[in-house]
Amino acid sequence: MQVIHHIEELRAVLKGVRAKQPGFTIGFVPTMGFLHQGHASLLQQARKQCDFVVLSIFVNPLQFGPNEDFDRYPRNEARDLELAEEEGTDVVFCPSTVEMYPKPVRTKISLSIITEQLCGASRPGHFDGVAVIVTKLFQIIQPDAAFFGLKDVQQVAVIKQLVDDLNMPLQIVPCPIVREQDGLAMSSRNVYLQPEERRQALALSSALKLAEQRINEAADVLLADELKQMIRTHIAQMPLAEIEYVEIVTYPELEPVSRLQRSISGEIVIALAARFGKTRLIDNTIILLS
Ligand code: PAJ
Repeated sequence: MQVIHHIEELRAVLKGVRAKQPGFTIGFVPTMGFLHQGHASLLQQARKQCDFVVLSIFVNPLQFGPNEDFDRYPRNEARDLELAEEEGTDVVFCPSTVEMYPKPVRTKISLSIITEQLCGASRPGHFDGVAVIVTKLFQIIQPDAAFFGLKDVQQVAVIKQLVDDLNMPLQIVPCPIVREQDGLAMSSRNVYLQPEERRQALALSSALKLAEQRINEAADVLLADELKQMIRTHIAQMPLAEIEYVEIVTYPELEPVSRLQRSISGEIVIALAARFGKTRLIDNTIILLS
């Protein structure tokens, strides 16, 4: 496994790979490090599907708001490299901030509609920052496929839209959410949780489970508002929970849904965000109607 810090070196290595092995497919997994089994699952999928796997580790300042956790975002490069090696990664790209942003970025990539609700509503500019870094990384690496976790379902929808709108020549592969044994969705930010917050945070995944059951048992039409209220009530039983949003939208368009009925085919996503103390957590479930 090669660890590369500079863009030009990475370009040269990938050029060599393409020249030596024509037809070799390059799979790419972008991350902000502090890797866990969720990230590992993306590397495994990339390994299965592609001949050469590139992982990037870069905490992207452009996607953090002024009062967010950029400075305290957890980092552990040595452990990340071990995990990457175990998963059979070929190249790890860990650039510095100066390497990625030598000058202030004057280019804005702003996606309309799809970024206006859910996390986009409470994190203005977040997805613009994600779109810029992902586009830069795609330009540098030129992968055949890039792997993203459905844990960040809006991010997947945004990237799919970006790639479609701009005719970027790669496949976006959404991968399932990896959870702790008790149901909590894995996240680099889970380390922020105090033990009692960690216990109460289980209400997020259990609320989604409850909603899935309710949908499976429903004989007829279900109103989205009722379902959202049921989820809110379940989470609100936890005194430390501060709900930010609970939404039901189509996937991947992220358009609001008001009635859930079996005669409507297609996928919907129930997505939520809540704070436990200072830690903001998100979770979701995708449900196939019909
Ligand atoms: P990060 O939060 O490090 O996540 C990197 C990738 O891992 C994302 O595609 C995310 O959805 C996926 N992931 C995180 N937790 C997961 C879980 N429990 N199960 C499955 N996949 C999971 O997302 C980012 O970084 C950044 O926004 C990035 C795309 C790298 C751009 O800076």
